Amino acid sequence: MYQTLLFSIEENICTITINRPDKLNALNKEVFTELDKAIDEVYSNDEIKSVIITGAGPKAFVAGADITEFSTLDKQQAMALAKRGQDVFFKIENSSKPVIAAVNGFALGGGCELAMACHFRLCSDNAKFGQPEVNLGLIPGYGGTQRLTQLVGKGRSMEMQMTAQLADATEALEMGLVNHVTTPDTLLEKTRGILKVINTKAPVAISKIIDCINTAVLSDSAYTNGKSGYDKEVEAFGDCFDTQDMKEGTAAFLEKRKAIFTGK
Ligand code: COA
Repeated sequence: MYQTLLFSIEENICTITINRPDKLNALNKEVFTELDKAIDEVYSNDEIKSVIITGAGPKAFVAGADITEFSTLDKQQAMALAKRGQDVFFKIENSSKPVIAAVNGFALGGGCELAMACHFRLCSDNAKFGQPEVNLGLIPGYGGTQRLTQLVGKGRSMEMQMTAQLADATEALEMGLVNHVTTPDTLLEKTRGILKVINTKAPVAISKIIDCINTAVLSDSAYTNGKSGYDKEVEAFGDCFDTQDMKEGTAAFLEKRKAIFTGK
């Protein structure tokens, strides 16, 4: 079905693997087209409760945008490329289902930006993160100037992007770029374990958490409908009271039993 991705669903967890290992999973046009389609399927397929994005092979998550596609672009085409990348990554960020990056090696340029568009990140101890575009006379174009700043703060983001220096797994953990570091062999198992916990929670509440937290960090009012995160939180809190899952969750607590959520 996909040429550049592997796509599987197991126990309600969808795994999307960028699959160009001989090119360190670099993001070319075809990967973007297929990733866009895969995220559409995540949105529409009720069997999928949550998603892992990872890279094929032992060396890279994604080593960046495919640099071979850059050489012929003029300014307008470059802007269109950046906009296309940003739109696909916004689709990931705004998914109502949790999307976690399992970073299994290099996450550079567009690869770091893809990982940062996910709701949070785990990495293996051989991972390396960075925005080395300045080495090419470029800047990040798929949201990296914004999301890296949100995640690690202005000073560190400035330094990483101006020096093109890479952060290893320990540094990434220390600066909050990833939540957990594992061995390469246990990365997917650990990521799946976290998603299995999340998948037992009320899906409407999970989607509201994603939306409200995104609003806290998104500066573009096109994506926040001009509302502040606090306004959104009030509305989303109220919306949860309209769900059967909220009634089930509170009843289960009072009856001292485990809640069974249905997503309604
Ligand atoms: N775009 C296109 N091709 C890429 C790529 C990218 N971003 N990153 C790696 N590749 C290709 C290489 O050209 C090479 O292809 P080839 O075998 O046909 O020559 C293959 O992937 C393997 O990469 P290679 O450079 O040989 O591996 P390495 O272990 O020596 O180095 C990196 C690994 C990640 C340090 C190096 O590939 C690199 O610097 N990549 C570019 C990173 C970057 O600048 N990303 C931001 C882009 S905006």
